[in-house]
Amino acid sequence: MTQRIANPCTPVRFRVVPPYFLLGIEYTAELIKKAEMIDKEFDIIIFGATSFVGQIMTRHIKEKFNNSSLNWAVAGRSKEKLKKLSKDIGLYEIKTIIADANDESALKALCARTKIVVSTVGPYALYGSTLVKICAETGTDYCDLTGEPQWIKKMQETYGKTAIDSGARIVHCCGFDSIPSDLGVHFLQQKALKKTGQTCNKINMRVLKMKGGASGGTIASIINLIKEASRNSKLRKELKNPYSLCPPSHNFTLFQSNIKVSYDEEYKSWIAPFIMAAINSRVIHRSNALSGNSYGTDFLYEEAVLIGKGKIGKWKAHFVNIGLAMVMAGLIIPPTRWLLQKFILPKPGQGPSEEEQLSGEYELLFTGTTSDGTKVKCRITGDQDPGYGSTAKMLAQSAICLAKDVPKNTKGGFWTPATIMGDKLTKRLISQAGLDFEIIDS
Ligand SMILES: NC(=O)c1ccc[n+]([C@@H]2O[C@H](COP(=O)([O-])OP(=O)(O)OC[C@H]3O[C@@H](n4cnc5c(N)ncnc54)[C@H](OP(=O)(O)O)[C@@H]3O)[C@@H](O)[C@H]2O)c1
Repeated sequence: MTQRIANPCTPVRFRVVPPYFLLGIEYTAELIKKAEMIDKEFDIIIFGATSFVGQIMTRHIKEKFNNSSLNWAVAGRSKEKLKKLSKDIGLYEIKTIIADANDESALKALCARTKIVVSTVGPYALYGSTLVKICAETGTDYCDLTGEPQWIKKMQETYGKTAIDSGARIVHCCGFDSIPSDLGVHFLQQKALKKTGQTCNKINMRVLKMKGGASGGTIASIINLIKEASRNSKLRKELKNPYSLCPPSHNFTLFQSNIKVSYDEEYKSWIAPFIMAAINSRVIHRSNALSGNSYGTDFLYEEAVLIGKGKIGKWKAHFVNIGLAMVMAGLIIPPTRWLLQKFILPKPGQGPSEEEQLSGEYELLFTGTTSDGTKVKCRITGDQDPGYGSTAKMLAQSAICLAKDVPKNTKGGFWTPATIMGDKLTKRLISQAGLDFEIIDS
């Protein structure tokens, strides 16, 4: 597929800075940024290195880059916790930086020292906005793990132009939501174009296997979204719009109906809704919009979990669906939310054990259909549990891909993983992070 990488949202702006102006030269924001980046002390700073997922990511980067040319540092709000992390992991030489997520001047000083900030400080809607603002203003590249669509939209609307002007490349959703889905669709569309000369106007993803758990940070993000939505009717409406993260000028009109428990003829299996479908589909539609509608203006995408065959499969699918609805209802109602948080759900900083992470895995199947009915299929597998072991590796490799593989003159703005990193990240994930992408016949 010849992918057209477009500037997210607006045309390139030209900025004139005095010394260059005196020489009669006009520099683009990207060229200025490139010049300013040369002297930065670090390639990457991990902000929130002491979080549950941040610790796993820090170990991964240490393992992969211990003796190599990557200059990196860890940052967080607690000196003691950072010290303990460095000792536990054996990072005796690593530089540590103290910054609170609400401290603008500390974050400015942090951004002045690095080309890229990779953040696991969440819920992002509560603690992430100041950092995105500073990155956008200072032209510092940024990636994170958020899956909070309402916050992403707010950041895009508030700092989109600032990031374009400064040349900061901002990439949200670099974890299990939404890298496998976003890159899976990108991969399948390329294969479809090669095989049939056209892209697929419909793709569905089915979760065949997924073994892992949830962390306190993820639960806190879901609870915060539920709280925000319960007091904001505009947000509730926005959360129903699959194109809410697309630029306002998008011209997509088809609405995918929500997946309900049903029988999938293709897989001869009952299916149930997939909890990540909402954020993943929004990211994929944004990728389509940013790539000049390269998947088509009538492109539809949906995700579901394959449950099983026969009567047992049917009952299990209803059970999964009802279970999900009950947990959501429990989180919406304050007294049950309190009970769930107090006695059942993991607290911030907690998550699946190392054994659970290592024994986790996932397998996702994608089927694309072109307008003449030709089908193309692919499979993505990942080792370790999707939400933490694998997510930490995906986020680390995204930051490294931004630092090392993405051309420095790629424009600033709010990108998606597929549009800014695409195949470069796919290659890294296969060679460094335990993922596999393959085309399948049936
Ligand atoms: N996309 C995905 O697939 C995916 C997967 C997993 C997690 N996530 C998201 O990633 C985020 C992290 O998850 P987690 O389970 O690792 O969370 P966590 O363990 O609860 O960690 C939260 C981090 O935020 C830091 N923090 C909180 N307030 C701060 C402040 N004011 N200033 C500086 N740092 C502050 C905490 O610092 P201390 O260590 O000092 O307490 C901690 O490091 C969550 O938003 C979660 O939803 C996404």
